[in-house]
Amino acid sequence: MKGIILAGGTATRLFPLTATPSKQLLPIYDRQMIFYPLNTLIKAGIKDILIIVAPDHSGQFLNLLGSIFEKYGIRLAFKVQKIPKGLADAFILGEDFIDQDSVTMILGDNIFEDDFSEQIKNFKSGGHVFARKVPDPERSGVVQFDNQNRVIKIEEKPKKWISDYAITGLYIYDNKVVEAAKNVKPSERGEIEITSLHNYYLKLGELEVSTFEGVWLDAGTFDSLLEANKIVKEKEIYKNFDPKIDEAIKKFNEELKVITKKGLL
Ligand code: DAU
Repeated sequence: MKGIILAGGTATRLFPLTATPSKQLLPIYDRQMIFYPLNTLIKAGIKDILIIVAPDHSGQFLNLLGSIFEKYGIRLAFKVQKIPKGLADAFILGEDFIDQDSVTMILGDNIFEDDFSEQIKNFKSGGHVFARKVPDPERSGVVQFDNQNRVIKIEEKPKKWISDYAITGLYIYDNKVVEAAKNVKPSERGEIEITSLHNYYLKLGELEVSTFEGVWLDAGTFDSLLEANKIVKEKEIYKNFDPKIDEAIKKFNEELKVITKKGLL
């Protein structure tokens, strides 16, 4: 199983906060946002992770994460996405990296309270996505179930209400996703949508949709960023990290202090 974190985009809704740093490097309580999706993948035992970033931010990601996990056998690779073409582009950019394997993709601004390690470790084939009840489904990809919990349809940001279940930014797919992504046609908003990939697997009868109830945060606006900080603190989500990450951050901080003391920074 390979891992991808999609951490590109321009985050215009968060200007001026994102005029300099990448959105996914903004603080969520005591660490940068990117550590939360990294934790979801690392906790599940994924050792090869590709981080897809926007051109202006590649140096920032490298400075923070370039060698932080070396000691733990976790290999991070980086790829620049020149134009934010859509979420499905991650699998096209990641083709060589994914190689013959399955892949778990997580959005760099999604924070989950739940631990999805078992679902990631037990994944065999097809697609597996995770849905949660939300008050504002029109902001997300949405899944509609029948009364036996079978999926009827999946739509990206439906204008007319179909269900309260949003498909969150964590996706597990088998290797077919690479070719499927290449065949996705751009939507009305000009993006190659991840929803087209869910529908590809749904049509094959190979899509599993699990629901969950724990906290799901998507820190894309001022209010949701503030809310994410508050909830992470209140629910102590920052305490649920894989010890390897906490240790790596601690070491990084210590090195930073030494460099600062010596006036090298
Ligand atoms: O958060 C879950 C939702 O994410 C899903 O329910 C939707 O189906 C899915 O389309 C997506 O919707 P958003 O409108 O929230 O996606 P957004 O454009 O905000 O992009 C999500 C993250 O991915 C964001 O941090 C920026 C990054 N991104 C986005 C695009 C389009 C990239 O790195 N590259 C891209 O090309």
